[in-house]
Amino acid sequence: MITPADTPKTVKLNILRQDTPDSQPYWQNFEVPCSESSNVTSLLRSISANPVTAQGTKVAPPAYEASCLEEVCGSCTMVINGRVRQACSTLIRKIQAQNPGEPITIEPMTKFPVIRDLVVDRSRMFENLKRIKAWIPIDGTFNLGPGPKITPEEQEIMYPLSRCMTCGSCLEACPQFTRDNAFVGAQIFSIARYYNMHPNGQKDKDARMEVLMGDGGITDCGNAQNCVKVCPKDIPLTESIGVIGRAATVYSIKKFFGK
Ligand code: SF4
Ligand code: FES
Repeated sequence: MITPADTPKTVKLNILRQDTPDSQPYWQNFEVPCSESSNVTSLLRSISANPVTAQGTKVAPPAYEASCLEEVCGSCTMVINGRVRQACSTLIRKIQAQNPGEPITIEPMTKFPVIRDLVVDRSRMFENLKRIKAWIPIDGTFNLGPGPKITPEEQEIMYPLSRCMTCGSCLEACPQFTRDNAFVGAQIFSIARYYNMHPNGQKDKDARMEVLMGDGGITDCGNAQNCVKVCPKDIPLTESIGVIGRAATVYSIKKFFGK
């Protein structure tokens, strides 16, 4: 069990930095004060307030993203001690307990283009959400009345799927998802499953299935199952991949018979 007494007074951070999207990355080391409640984001904030390396050199503050600070927005996702996770919910005392006294390594995600330091361009995920029409179509400027009912059984399945925060952890861990291919990844399959289940979202199901069966779609999944191990929201991603795989088969048969 980790106790407050296990919290080190200072902690060493090795941060992989990159000044521009095209420049070479380089490591910089920092040593910063740490408290029982410190997390990676709070230490990055301390460094920004006093950006001096462990060797005493004043440098530019490391760039990083953070918004909600409670593992809801996904913007602070980065690779910490070799594992993709959210900086705001990564407690220092927990990761130091695994490697006492060792520096903590902090790197940007590798599957998305680096903009600067720990900030990456995750727009590929958002573009893919647009491609699968990840929304509920509601048209008109008048009152449409109550929406269709969703049963408690359907809610049980849909609620966990709705927790996706587009953090990209599942894609970072996936060997099939690379910077130069078109694979959409587990997140998109799971979100598509959600909208295919929704009574209004079903209106766009065929268009969604066309994307999921096209280039970079469901047939490119190699079933490595890394995605489900790193998802911070415990979303049943491999189950969603199975559901979309079966939906693709049904859709193909339907299309073959012109229905
Ligand atoms: S499915 Fe999980 S790991 Fe993937 S983007 Fe959504 S929350 Fe992040
Ligand atoms: S700041 Fe939103 S998930 Fe970390």
